[in-house]
Amino acid sequence: MAPHAMNPWVAVAYLVAGVCFILALRGLSSPATSRRGNRYGMFGMGIAVVTTLVTHEIASLPEILGAIAIGGGIGFVIARRIQMTAMPQLVAAFHSLVGLAAVLVAAAAFLNPAAFGILDDSGAILAVSRVEMALGSAIGALTFSGSVIAFAKLNGNMSGTPILLPGRHAINAAILLALVFFIYGFFDSQSPVDFWLVTGLAFLIGFLLIVPIGGADMPVVVSMLNSYSGWAAAAMGFTLHNTAMIVTGALVGSSGAILSYIMCKAMNRSFVSVIAGGFGAEAAAGSGEAKEQRPWKRGSAEDAAFLMKEAESVIIIPGYGMAVAQAQHVLREMADQLKKHGVGVKYAIHPVAGRMPGHMNVLLAEANVPYDEVFELEDINGEFAQADVAFIIGANDVVNPAAKTDKSSPIYGMPVFDVDKAKTIFFIKRSMGGQGYAGVDNDVFYMDQTMMLLADAKKMVEDINKALAE
Ligand code: TAP
Repeated sequence: MAPHAMNPWVAVAYLVAGVCFILALRGLSSPATSRRGNRYGMFGMGIAVVTTLVTHEIASLPEILGAIAIGGGIGFVIARRIQMTAMPQLVAAFHSLVGLAAVLVAAAAFLNPAAFGILDDSGAILAVSRVEMALGSAIGALTFSGSVIAFAKLNGNMSGTPILLPGRHAINAAILLALVFFIYGFFDSQSPVDFWLVTGLAFLIGFLLIVPIGGADMPVVVSMLNSYSGWAAAAMGFTLHNTAMIVTGALVGSSGAILSYIMCKAMNRSFVSVIAGGFGAEAAAGSGEAKEQRPWKRGSAEDAAFLMKEAESVIIIPGYGMAVAQAQHVLREMADQLKKHGVGVKYAIHPVAGRMPGHMNVLLAEANVPYDEVFELEDINGEFAQADVAFIIGANDVVNPAAKTDKSSPIYGMPVFDVDKAKTIFFIKRSMGGQGYAGVDNDVFYMDQTMMLLADAKKMVEDINKALAE
């Protein structure tokens, strides 16, 4: 499978693929252009795969095509069937495969270096390839075990609460040091023991790093693991002398890192504190306490329809519950009806509303909500003071004022919508008991201007639509 010396056409083909990937990332940055972005990505990947196949000595093309057909078929079926709400764990599961692939490629290159053309004149593996191999395998193994834990936590196979081992920081630091030591050892001696120790220790550290991370920090972890999987692929791209893989890996690595940074900022958490883990442990520990018995008001669909019809401006804040209920289509119908009554309707999207970046944007786009009615947190937060109605549908943590006032709250510091400034608040959720992701109570339930609309979000909005139509 030794690569040919780089043919200029191959270089051009990989360059075109790389440009397509960059255009894909650019397109995916906005719901309006995301479909086009996806097409660029698929086209670029098609070019990269075909170029690789036609320019390498392939031992068995039918085997490779068979594997692509089986893998692609499984991916196709899973992607078609997956619920939007289960997307984060699917992404985590797919990252685990990228990590595993990097480990397997590194192991294959280590066990049969001649086939990869990475031997020097003395028959030893090239020094630079030894470093790439050890790094690729280490990052891949860490990505694999970390992603498996992230999947299990997000999928509910494992408790989402942080598991805090005593002395975990010291244990992690010792393992990281040992990892560096054995990577050097492998570079120095090409010893199989060192290679497998690097892989095993990296596998262990992936597990130990992710187990203590809980609750609301999981999205950052998934995008961080996405970043790692990119770096693992880039490292293996060097071993395979494949520029397309190096470029793609670096793009995935850097975009994942940037996304993690954006999410940390949106939750006002430092990257280091996310990695150090433990977030959400206090909230989980306190969740067994008796709930406060404070007065609150229950509203009906008719109340909501009546008051919103009379309003000048309504700001809709969608959250995870809207996704669960799949209420986006009926919500848009509600907005259409309100607009017919001359009501100004805007949607306010929090950067971490739902369970993945862009979750709400995707759902609203699916329901054909016009993009110019959708606003980011910082662009709309100043408007709540003039709004007649804040209509909260399945959101919770992103409107919780404790994030601004309660230093002991696990969401303290996260920027939230100032819904309390609106004249009237409608709050759709199914029960007073159910909490948001961070598992904390919300003062907005008990405010004078709040009416709780307790029902499944889709059912409640359908009832509001009926009342509006009457
Ligand atoms: P959450 O705080 O999770 O609140 C969801 C609300 O929806 C709950 O109040 C729940 O109450 C309600 N709900 C659930 N199913 C419903 C249904 N069928 N009908 C009506 N209501 C329903 O949501 P959020 O405000 O969107 O906040 C997101 C949270 O998730 C943040 O803490 C964020 O850090 C975290 N997170 C974000 C991401 C990203 S990147 N977006 C990823 C993972 C985690 P009931 O159970 O009473 O109905």
